Amino acid sequence: MGAKKNMRARVAELRELIRLHDRKYYVDHAPEIADGEYDALMAELAGLEREHPELVTSDSPTRRGGGAPTEGFRTVEHAVPMLSLDNTYSPEELLAFDARVKKRLPDELVEYVVEPKLDGISISLRYVDGRLDVAVTRGDGTRGDDVTANIRTVRSIPTRLPGRRGVSEVEVRGEVFMPRSGFERLNRRRESDGATPFVNPRNAAAGSLKLRDPGEVAGRPLEAFFYQIVGGASRVATHLEAIELMRAMGFPVSPDITPAPHMEAAVERCLEWDERRRGLDYDIDGMVVKVNSLEQQERLGSTAKSPRWGIAYKFPAEAVRTVVRDIVVQVGRTGRLTPVAILEPVFVSGSTVSRATLHNQDEIERLDVRVGDTVAIEKGGEVIPKVTEVVKSKRRGRPRRFRMPLRCPACGEPVVRSPGEVDTRCENVSCPEQVRGRIRHFASRGAMDVRGLGSALVRQLVAEELVGDYGDLYELRGPDLVALERMGEKSAENLLAELEESKRRPLARVLHGLGIRHVGARVAQVLAESFPGMRELASASEGDLAAIDEIGPVIAASIRSFLGSPRNAEALRKLERAGVNMRREPGRRRKTKTALAGLTVVLSGTFAHRTRQEAADAIVEAGGRVSSSVSSKTDLAVVGRNPGSKHSKALELGVKTIDEAELERLLGTRERH
Ligand code: IVH
Repeated sequence: MGAKKNMRARVAELRELIRLHDRKYYVDHAPEIADGEYDALMAELAGLEREHPELVTSDSPTRRGGGAPTEGFRTVEHAVPMLSLDNTYSPEELLAFDARVKKRLPDELVEYVVEPKLDGISISLRYVDGRLDVAVTRGDGTRGDDVTANIRTVRSIPTRLPGRRGVSEVEVRGEVFMPRSGFERLNRRRESDGATPFVNPRNAAAGSLKLRDPGEVAGRPLEAFFYQIVGGASRVATHLEAIELMRAMGFPVSPDITPAPHMEAAVERCLEWDERRRGLDYDIDGMVVKVNSLEQQERLGSTAKSPRWGIAYKFPAEAVRTVVRDIVVQVGRTGRLTPVAILEPVFVSGSTVSRATLHNQDEIERLDVRVGDTVAIEKGGEVIPKVTEVVKSKRRGRPRRFRMPLRCPACGEPVVRSPGEVDTRCENVSCPEQVRGRIRHFASRGAMDVRGLGSALVRQLVAEELVGDYGDLYELRGPDLVALERMGEKSAENLLAELEESKRRPLARVLHGLGIRHVGARVAQVLAESFPGMRELASASEGDLAAIDEIGPVIAASIRSFLGSPRNAEALRKLERAGVNMRREPGRRRKTKTALAGLTVVLSGTFAHRTRQEAADAIVEAGGRVSSSVSSKTDLAVVGRNPGSKHSKALELGVKTIDEAELERLLGTRERH
């Protein structure tokens, strides 16, 4: 009995020691023992736990290596919603925020705190009786994913709060992130393993937290900083004191949180940090300015989406310089030639950039960009990087000007630039680059959705002359496919089954897949609602078409010209012969008034009753538009499970959000059952 008791005590002692040294190492960055000594403690504990499995606890330091993989993440409701901060981009906006605060707190002194805005994944941790109980992601702000098992593997996050036994509940919030150095190491490893590297540390952190296997998470270099005790801690009066309290409890907190006596000082600090952040080993995308007094915070309160006591200052879009190695020309599926600058790779706003579009000849002339030039490129938010200026002082010698080629780089046919148009085009419908582009578009998710027909395969099919247009896809036979390099019998079979299945896609999808200029998913839907089938559409005049609501003369002319071309007519005949659906389903006539008519809708997350594509189709059918990104023009955001940045953006912009059940209601679920 006595031996058992001793051993129990030793296990407890080892755990205590390991936690203490974890904290010294991972949080304070001031280790007190050598790695070897630490490893010996760990080995001893692991040995005892192996011999006495009844003593193993889920929060033992030995379990940092990760528990069993999960099927999915449980959804957990936040006790207090996780809001987001309003963004500002200039000193003036910060001063306006200060004025709003003062208006609500007349004649009071307001002190601010300035701290880095970490570019990671927000997380809320609840401790019960001093033990980590649950770790939840932000999710949609109301509900998030239970990622406790994964969070336990992050060594700087305490799983026990010493001295907090008996304190019933503590909830803290902060940001999990991946340091740049760790991110680079991880990507090097991934590259040598043949895995796709992560785009930036934020994506890598998000991806890591969503791994199903905590054992794998344990190998990811994740860190965290905490910045909020939920519900306020009665023992502290200010945000700075709350930070100190969290530090004392063993949470990692940013070392760069400082008070500012007034907004002018806070503004100065924000501006300084735009430079200083380059010295950090992690990404920050701005600064946060918060009212220091928790009591004042309380009185200021929050709106539905963000607190009135804090504001984010976002750094201006980062501009960096790099060198243009080459200017190449890409040919799109519509024959448009786009010049693209091939750049010396640079890291800008969180990812490595090695190409930037130069749009067209006019833009190249405006910038006067030439091969070998040093250029400034800019990337704001999620936008494709663009070249903003040429640094002429760095130009050496007299580099040659770029000229659009006179012949298509893909097929060698002469290209055309019509008077008054900025685009240069290849008008050869058989141009291999266009042929490939059209086939890829036809098979793409939003059109015929033929899985397994990727770029590499399309290239092979066109090169082997098995396919000259999308109509030929349906004439492919097993032996043709199996003869291709890297194509097994099983893949061939799957592809044929996918093609067979695609014949039943609704008319709108088929129309979209044809690749008629200006006919995207929305116009295709309008056409499918306006004509019972392809035949009727083909015999409509330009005038008939232009008379349709939402279809203007440019689209009408484009449709007529497409259908008037003998080659296109031939491809269409092939589709028809193969049995591809050419008729509108009964009852899918254009509806004029539904709850979604005319609304621009964004989908975020996954849905239980439909795939995202099905949800999008249903919305379009009900007269709505589906957009892939949230902007001020978005009317409605439908939020499913595990919603992403679109949902946060919607909350940020104050866009109305609804859940799946509400969407089903608006769609009138009858149609599906
Ligand atoms: S305070 C009401 N402080 O930015 C939300 N947030 O848009 C209070 N973030 O979701 C958040 N660093 O994920 C706060 N020092 C910091 C932050 C920070 C990053 C994130 C957080 C939040 C988002 C706000």
